[in-house]
Amino acid sequence: MSKPPSSRAYVPFVSVENMMALIHHFGIEQVLTLLADEIEADFWRWELFDKTPRVASHSSVGVIELMPTSDGETYGFKYVNGHPKNTREGLQTVTAFGVLADVDSGYPILLSEMTLLTALRTAAASAMAARHLAPKGARSMAMIGNGAQSEFQCLAFKAICGIDTVRLFDIDPEATARCARNLAGRGLEVVQCRSGQEAVEGAEIITTCTADKQYATILTDNMVGSGVHINAIGGDCPGKTELHRDILLRSSIFVEYPPQTRIEGEIQQLEPDHPVTELWQVITGQVAGRTSERQITLFDSVGFAIEDFSALRLVLRLIEGTEFYTELDMIADPDDPRDLFGMLERAKR
Ligand SMILES: NC(=O)c1ccc[n+]([C@@H]2O[C@H](COP(=O)([O-])OP(=O)(O)OC[C@H]3O[C@@H](n4cnc5c(N)ncnc54)[C@H](O)[C@@H]3O)[C@@H](O)[C@H]2O)c1
Repeated sequence: MSKPPSSRAYVPFVSVENMMALIHHFGIEQVLTLLADEIEADFWRWELFDKTPRVASHSSVGVIELMPTSDGETYGFKYVNGHPKNTREGLQTVTAFGVLADVDSGYPILLSEMTLLTALRTAAASAMAARHLAPKGARSMAMIGNGAQSEFQCLAFKAICGIDTVRLFDIDPEATARCARNLAGRGLEVVQCRSGQEAVEGAEIITTCTADKQYATILTDNMVGSGVHINAIGGDCPGKTELHRDILLRSSIFVEYPPQTRIEGEIQQLEPDHPVTELWQVITGQVAGRTSERQITLFDSVGFAIEDFSALRLVLRLIEGTEFYTELDMIADPDDPRDLFGMLERAKR
């Protein structure tokens, strides 16, 4: 009789079903708030993380990316895709899963779905940035692009920034109607708009979250008044942007990791040395965020590996002692570590 595998051979796995149960158990707004705090705590530790622009494999229709980082104790990575054409084929634009591993042994310690978790972490990171950059007392947000990410964005801005009104616009009115239906009864005033121009009227925060694998102009310069905060989510690949260049020239631009954002973000439209501020420096108080009421602040979000690391670590903590995971027999673990072949042979029936 061979010994059973060591406990290290089993890796906690959070399936889509368990992720949904976990979110409902804690409540979505509570999870978004916890995530924003977790990400902010890691932005305080920004300098000690391994950082690299994500590794992207582009095709004519989309991109598949790996997003690794480590804080020296724990390593994490996310697999994520972006395929704007997918929704026309009944598939999602973005899907993801992720891993945490113990740096000391290299053994994985968590495998999790991250399609839902990416929507949550993106929304939480956006709202966390807005907490530092948006005009004080902002109540109304334009939400342009009403796809998979949109309800998460709206709820994060409600829970974390105190937004009470969202003004929705999508080129597909059915997407707007679905988003409005999903947000009904959640304490937000939801206004369905017929144009981007109508959506931005009176909004102190403008979120753009569209998907198109090309340079698009979701916001033109005349749509952006002084004093607003722009949360630009959808421009996150070479050749894929949402804002007219003139808006960038009028804005104070805040980014996650400049070497990645210069490749993927709105600022790919600017000179490579155009000044930008790293968000972690605002959070740690080293550099000012919003300095005047008339300033336009722009969070040029592309999504960075540290945000996924924070999200996975929060999930690992939240599942402890719960039933929201299963153990996956993922690591081959022979009794004699060098007898991998023998383990295989003994498994012959
Ligand atoms: N920054 C980040 O961290 C991050 C994270 C996740 C996703 N994203 C990006 O966010 C975007 C949205 O993702 P999703 O999963 O919600 O995609 P989705 O395909 O589900 O939704 C996109 C929506 O945008 C709408 N749209 C397209 N062009 C438009 C236009 N010109 N004006 C108004 N609406 C328009 C579409 O009709 C669709 O409803 C994608 O580009 C994705 O790559 C960024």
